[in-house]
Amino acid sequence: MLQDKTLDSCRVDWPAPDHVPEDRKVSLSWAMGYEPNDLPDPFAPCKWLAGADVPRLLYLPLPPEGAAHGAAGQTAGTWLVTHYDDIERVYSDNDAFSNKGQAEFQAYVGETFRSIPLAIDPPEHSKYRLYLMPHFSPSRLNKMQDGIRQIAAEMIESFADKGEVDIAWDFGRIYPVRIFMDLMGFPKDMFDQFLDWEWDILHSNDPEKIQASMRGILAYLRGFIREKEANPDEHLVSAIVHGKIEGKSPTADEKIGMVWFLWLGGLDTVAASIGHMFRRMAFEPELQQTIRANPELIPSAVEEFLRSHPVVNSGRRARHDFEWHGVQIKAGDQVQCLNSSGNFDPARFADPETFDPARKANRHFTFVAGVHICLGAPLARRELRILLDEWFKRIPEFHIKPGTDTTVYPGLLSIRHLHIAWEPTARPAR
Ligand code: HEM
Repeated sequence: MLQDKTLDSCRVDWPAPDHVPEDRKVSLSWAMGYEPNDLPDPFAPCKWLAGADVPRLLYLPLPPEGAAHGAAGQTAGTWLVTHYDDIERVYSDNDAFSNKGQAEFQAYVGETFRSIPLAIDPPEHSKYRLYLMPHFSPSRLNKMQDGIRQIAAEMIESFADKGEVDIAWDFGRIYPVRIFMDLMGFPKDMFDQFLDWEWDILHSNDPEKIQASMRGILAYLRGFIREKEANPDEHLVSAIVHGKIEGKSPTADEKIGMVWFLWLGGLDTVAASIGHMFRRMAFEPELQQTIRANPELIPSAVEEFLRSHPVVNSGRRARHDFEWHGVQIKAGDQVQCLNSSGNFDPARFADPETFDPARKANRHFTFVAGVHICLGAPLARRELRILLDEWFKRIPEFHIKPGTDTTVYPGLLSIRHLHIAWEPTARPAR
């Protein structure tokens, strides 16, 4: 049982590099988002990993029998960082930890351009970050706000009288992607194809599918970039290809690196967060009542949903040899931060296991921290806040539809289908 895991029950004797102490070797794939569970709080089993009695650095060796015992796609052993302060160090100590190679699925098809800005280390990183940041600024988001609200309201209205919806498939999967495609200027008819490619790349764990989808999306994005070079419009891809980075036009590799990574980062992160948010509320009607009765809590409630459901755990690579918490880290070692435990570290968060929609100073790691803190976070927050606002205006108390499979991955895979239901005649007066 996931809830019964202890450090001792997670220990393994799989081969690891010589510098890894035996007592740090564990298998924690269940805490890394790769094993589904059916708990109302699917991240609950990970929380003890941030406890004071857990050694500061653990190590997941490469499983001898393949990924079934490790993490999907795992190709090497990795250090696991589970406490808040240590995770903060990994995200902020750019001298010790590098992002090189992060999310570079293009390597599967022999491409060498870089995922920008995610895979770029400081100081080079800042020029790209500064280049892209104005497109996610508060004033830019203010301009998008009415459009986002209209999409949310129209989509909710389309099913409000039916008394039920598959909130993951028919809403969560679509709402953020419509907003993202508008922002970038992508044509609406690419919607299904984008989601298919993206699913294969991030979630299939099948090299052939990843390669085929990478070829498909990169050919499409390059064609789209060419089209915007010739016929600019007011959307983000045009701005990227026609702007100047430190006075120079971006190279072909820089253009595809930025457009590709935005495409990857913007598609299903918000969708996964929406799935978790509604599943949690459907299990906890009193939480719905609190937010409905106190709409001023929506911003802090969104932050608490994000803290309590960290859909991404981030990796880095050690840049040089150093000692940390009594163990030797070697240059090139992989380091995986478990935001899924750091967000519940009792040394950082008061009463971390309680979902507190009014929690203050909620500095969680769901968008990581440091220079790579999610560029799309202000947009994601705005989408989630507007969604709750429009939702509670239109939908009465809801619950999981009887017979629904509520199994969920505590990670980006999240949940593909989640049927929720309500009494349509009880719709709030508008
Ligand atoms: C709830 C939704 C989202 C979550 C949980 C999320 C999560 C993350 C995380 C964890 C990182 C850092 C990865 C690392 O450093 O290893 C990141 C970076 C990034 N995200 Fe998001 N993201 C979300 C939404 C978005 C959206 C909507 C966009 C774009 C439209 C976006 C674009 C980016 C970009 C460009 C970066 C790279 C930033 C940099 O390296 O400077 N994200 N995101």
